[in-house]
Amino acid sequence: MSDFLGAGWSTYITLVTLVGIVWCIWLLFSQLKVKVKLKPDGEVADTGHVWDGDLRELNNPLPRWWMWMFLISCIFSLVYLVLYPGLGSYPGVLGYSTDSALMQSMTTANDELKPVYAKYVKMDIGQIAADPKAREMGQRLFLNSCAQCHGSDAGGAKGFPNLTDGDWLYGGSPENIKTTIVNGRAGVMPPFPQLDSKQIVDVANYVRSLSGLPADDLKTARGAEVFKANCVACHGSDSKGNIALGAPNLADKTWLYGSTEAAIIETVTKGRMAMMPAQDKVLSPEKIQLLTAYVWGLSNNKQAGATR
Ligand code: HEC
Ligand code: HEC
Repeated sequence: MSDFLGAGWSTYITLVTLVGIVWCIWLLFSQLKVKVKLKPDGEVADTGHVWDGDLRELNNPLPRWWMWMFLISCIFSLVYLVLYPGLGSYPGVLGYSTDSALMQSMTTANDELKPVYAKYVKMDIGQIAADPKAREMGQRLFLNSCAQCHGSDAGGAKGFPNLTDGDWLYGGSPENIKTTIVNGRAGVMPPFPQLDSKQIVDVANYVRSLSGLPADDLKTARGAEVFKANCVACHGSDSKGNIALGAPNLADKTWLYGSTEAAIIETVTKGRMAMMPAQDKVLSPEKIQLLTAYVWGLSNNKQAGATR
């Protein structure tokens, strides 16, 4: 409740809340003053409402228990609003906030889990990746923090790289994977407004020819020149990419955005910018260690003959 932009809203909410409670108390006492009339024979009178033939609405006094419950709720809410945040930006006497409660429980959970993870911190990535227990933990962490983008099988999607195929934008060594997870990555493929649409079609054909996809020969020949002049700085003169920039290998069968002429034209015309968010503020170093091993293992365990 401390994130109001100005004092105006805070005051407004405080007033509405307090006036609401005071009004409830006033309503209760105003009704208590109304004396319930009894009939001469001592029977409770009715309001005169009769329906369905013989259903009469009686005019009973408020039951005592109900009145006390009502009053206690009003007092409870006032006490609550003194202790906890609720009145605009007033933080409450106890200084409680869901933010700090979350931080507290995350710290406690991390402290409790430290001994569980401690064993793995000392091991190298290959050993952790071969440990079935660690893989299970890594998979759970992956499902929680990574699967929404990379897919629950880490198989990726358009714009989100497949992490199981042994093909890496930023390198597949344990150190590279860890750096990716800790700092995040932002691959910038710039748009090319300086190229006209014919040159872009040409270069798209050339890019397709690099991985053996069908392409027009004439356009490919012209596209090679466009590529040499504009693209080799990042994708390399052998077009195998550059892991320092996250520039993909264009000569292989793995595509981040698709291999059709249309997809490549779109990439060159509009540019692309994929963002892998940094995890160093979100995950503890121990969790990042387990995730590095899990992700590394997805493509390397198969080669090492281990099951996953
Ligand atoms: C918000 C979406 C998102 C989340 C969440 C996310 N990633 Fe990524 N990740 C990406 C994108 C997009 C890229 C590609 C970045 C680029 O191309 O520049 C990427 C790249 C990577 C790479 C590099 C792949 C390569 O080929 O070099 C690794 C490794 C990776 N992510 C692991 C993880 C792990 C582990 C997690 C969970 C802690 C995670 N990612 C969570 C979107 C995400
Ligand atoms: C400044 C460096 C840079 C230059 C120059 C550059 N690229 Fe890229 N390119 C990248 C990066 C980085 C990516 C990955 C973008 C991402 O991760 O979102 C990329 C992605 C691509 C892709 C998508 C590959 C896939 O797997 O889907 C294609 C195609 C491509 N570039 C072609 C070109 C062509 C053609 C040129 C020249 C006209 C060019 N690039 C110039 C850095 C560059």
